[in-house]
Amino acid sequence: MIATATPGGSRARSWVRSLKLSNFRNYASLALALDERMVVLTGPNGAGKTNLIEAVSLLSPGRGLRRASLEALPRRGGDGTFAVAAEIETRHGPVALGTGIVNGPDGVEKTRRIRVDHEPARSSEALLDHLRVVWLTPDMHGLFRAAPSERRRFLDRLVLAIDRSHAGRVSAFERALRSRNKLLEAPSPNGQWLSALETQIAELGTAIAAARRECVRLLEGISGANGGEFPKAELRLEGEVEASLATLSATDAEDAYRAQLEARRYADKAAGRTLNGPHLSDLLVIHSGKGVPAAECSTGEQKSLLVGIILAHARLIAELSSEAPIVLLDEVPAHLDEKHRSALFEALISLDCQAWMTGTDSLDFQELGDRAQHLSVHSGTISAQ
Ligand SMILES: Nc1ncnc2c1ncn2[C@@H]1O[C@H](COP(=O)(O)OP(=O)(O)OP(=O)(O)O)[C@@H](O)[C@H]1O
Ligand SMILES: [Mg+2]
Repeated sequence: MIATATPGGSRARSWVRSLKLSNFRNYASLALALDERMVVLTGPNGAGKTNLIEAVSLLSPGRGLRRASLEALPRRGGDGTFAVAAEIETRHGPVALGTGIVNGPDGVEKTRRIRVDHEPARSSEALLDHLRVVWLTPDMHGLFRAAPSERRRFLDRLVLAIDRSHAGRVSAFERALRSRNKLLEAPSPNGQWLSALETQIAELGTAIAAARRECVRLLEGISGANGGEFPKAELRLEGEVEASLATLSATDAEDAYRAQLEARRYADKAAGRTLNGPHLSDLLVIHSGKGVPAAECSTGEQKSLLVGIILAHARLIAELSSEAPIVLLDEVPAHLDEKHRSALFEALISLDCQAWMTGTDSLDFQELGDRAQHLSVHSGTISAQ
């Protein structure tokens, strides 16, 4: 967990001073110099607006805002490599962050490289020592009606921004689950090995559930993050381990989960999967003003709820780390009515962050005036407006 800001301590923002792309999506090469204001990118469909903010999202762990495979990122017709390099200003001074795939001795390497101050970093989580990036894209609009796995992924990304060990925990947990499921398929599985795996699953699973609960608790505590125009979302975690943590200590919850795993071996073997645990949890979002689950709200209300959650999350990161994150909003203002659009701009101004926003109509951003740098995007090139 990142350190809590000292009360009254001054807050800064992290911002991208320069962004260089080479062979990334539809950008053969780009060098963009920026100041600390918001960045507005407008241009026709297919110009490269989303690609540009996707490049910024790759300066955080994971697969970026499109969850793209590594093979999708290099420019079609290029040599199969790509590079994204940025100079970031942070409260601790400037830092150079870079990512990409390179040509190895036997051709193009298939793993993403991360560089911090031009030195290779051991893992992508190292990026979180310098920068946090949050985003909202049109793909996320179906979140409340999507499968629970989508909401778990969404929640785990929220958790990761405030607890950098979360992603590692989730992948170790999933690996242990797969090993247990495989072992259960054997005619007479080794009991000791099974117990060892269940101990590991219970430990990791309880830690995952506890981190999610903490993130939800902190998010609920953030008030006034959205200027009052966006509906307040009540967040409820639904899951057995999450629920047991409400009444039991972490150690007791872990013991209870381990005992359940042991007791349900037969049922899990028959099902071919583990039937309880945080890999099945869900995040229930409720429009608290109306007391109605988000899935039953109108499309516009769902979008507003999501904007509210993302703004609260950005505010939470700013409060915990004393530094506002980069906020990437793909086509968000275009989906809002005038009142909500103005409220969004106000909330971003009060958050004091470098927000990157895209849209096809520059009029949607006119009211930002010189609070933003307005850029036009055309066929993978960028010019000032
Ligand atoms: N790997 C790639 N190599 C080359 N071009 C690509 C690659 N991936 C995507 N593109 C192209 O980049 C172009 C711009 O895509 P992008 O999604 O950034 O557009 P956009 O400006 O956000 O448009 P819209 O307003 O429709 O959302 C598209 O025509 C797309 O086909
Ligand atoms: Mg787009």
